[in-house]
Amino acid sequence: MRAYDLICKKRDGKELTEEEIRFFIDGCCSGQIPDEQTAAFLMAVYFRSMSRHEIFAMTKAMIDSGERADLSRIKGIKVDKHSTGGVGDKTTLVIIPAACACGVVCPKLSGRGLGHTGGTVDKLEAIPGYRCDLSKEEFAAAVNRVGAGISGQSASLAPADKKIYALRDITGTVEVPALIAASIMSKKLASGADRLLLDITVGSGAFNKDEAAGLALGKIMLDIAQRAGKKTVALLTDMDEPLGFAIGNTAELIEAFETLKGRGPSDLTEICIAMAGEMLYLAGKGDIADCRAAAKQAITGGAGLRKLKEIIASQGGDPLVCDDYSRLPSGEDAGVFKAEKDGFITGVDCSGYGRAAQILGAGRARQNDGIDYGAGILLLKKRGDTVKKGDIIARLFSNSHGGSEAVSILRESTFIGSQAPPARRLILGRIENEPAPRLKYGDF
Ligand code: URA
Repeated sequence: MRAYDLICKKRDGKELTEEEIRFFIDGCCSGQIPDEQTAAFLMAVYFRSMSRHEIFAMTKAMIDSGERADLSRIKGIKVDKHSTGGVGDKTTLVIIPAACACGVVCPKLSGRGLGHTGGTVDKLEAIPGYRCDLSKEEFAAAVNRVGAGISGQSASLAPADKKIYALRDITGTVEVPALIAASIMSKKLASGADRLLLDITVGSGAFNKDEAAGLALGKIMLDIAQRAGKKTVALLTDMDEPLGFAIGNTAELIEAFETLKGRGPSDLTEICIAMAGEMLYLAGKGDIADCRAAAKQAITGGAGLRKLKEIIASQGGDPLVCDDYSRLPSGEDAGVFKAEKDGFITGVDCSGYGRAAQILGAGRARQNDGIDYGAGILLLKKRGDTVKKGDIIARLFSNSHGGSEAVSILRESTFIGSQAPPARRLILGRIENEPAPRLKYGDF
């Protein structure tokens, strides 16, 4: 087999066999296929896409490039959750403890932020002492002790994805549904939970710019889960503006704590109730309505917050941060963004808001950049709000620089008009699969 022939086959729109795809992934990881050829292959996939069969073959080959987490030492039905990414998305910090407080076992492996989107690992590492680098044994012990763990993903799971993602990142081939689906699902299937909740974000802050694109990605991911025998629910959720009012690590932690005290922003609270409810449903805790009611009670009634404190303490962090926010890293005043005319905020470019936070230091441009945990943005006004010229729309925080550049990005990313925008839906859709029971672990 030659990589050249496979590139030409894909370029000409033909379907590759499982063996051919495995040859490509293995060769890319071992270095036998040079990066130039992998890049050409990825570009051919960008234009020709892949069949469901090819996507599943690629997912399997990427899983087999590394280890599979063995969660068999953790008791109970284990439910994991993954979001395709967003701005101000702190849902994991709310829904994992809430679902766990209702008896769902949650081994959650999370990622760092990259580009305009944030990552749960960065938020948790803002808590003094919190460890996201637990070994497999420590992670299993933490989940067995508390019922949930939130840790960083080990580099040994689907290493092919890391290599291929880095090439996609520099060759304009990130935004390919087939590649996004294989990338996410290889890591999620390798992490070994029994059931999976997918949050497919849609809008200007997400990969999927519209609902049709989100639905198409959701269907591909559910198809992979189906073939792998993994019961999965996907929610399509709005990411056309940041979730809640806070963007940036400390700011988002505080907003998550407030949400678990029943004082969270309405959009964040609504999405968290829906997602935590789905996790209960996936764990077999009842029908959707009952599961949502139980999730709501856990989020607003204090049980979720108590569980989050246990999770933080169990991973070496200081649980007092949940009540005493001065124990978290803070940022200096870096300016304000004001309305330049009267009107309604008719919409925002959500990725611009993420980029502004990144420039303040809250996110990284490259994988190994440092993070300013105290940097971020607090929104005072959002889509649909009225503003008068000179009203403060956002306050900015940073310990470095970038305030004026961030303000100009926010200005370009905020649209003010004379008509109120139509109301928006937060949950755009829901799909679920019903795979046959799996034969045994690692069977596919
Ligand atoms: N997140 C991933 O892990 N992979 C992608 O390709 C896109 C988002």
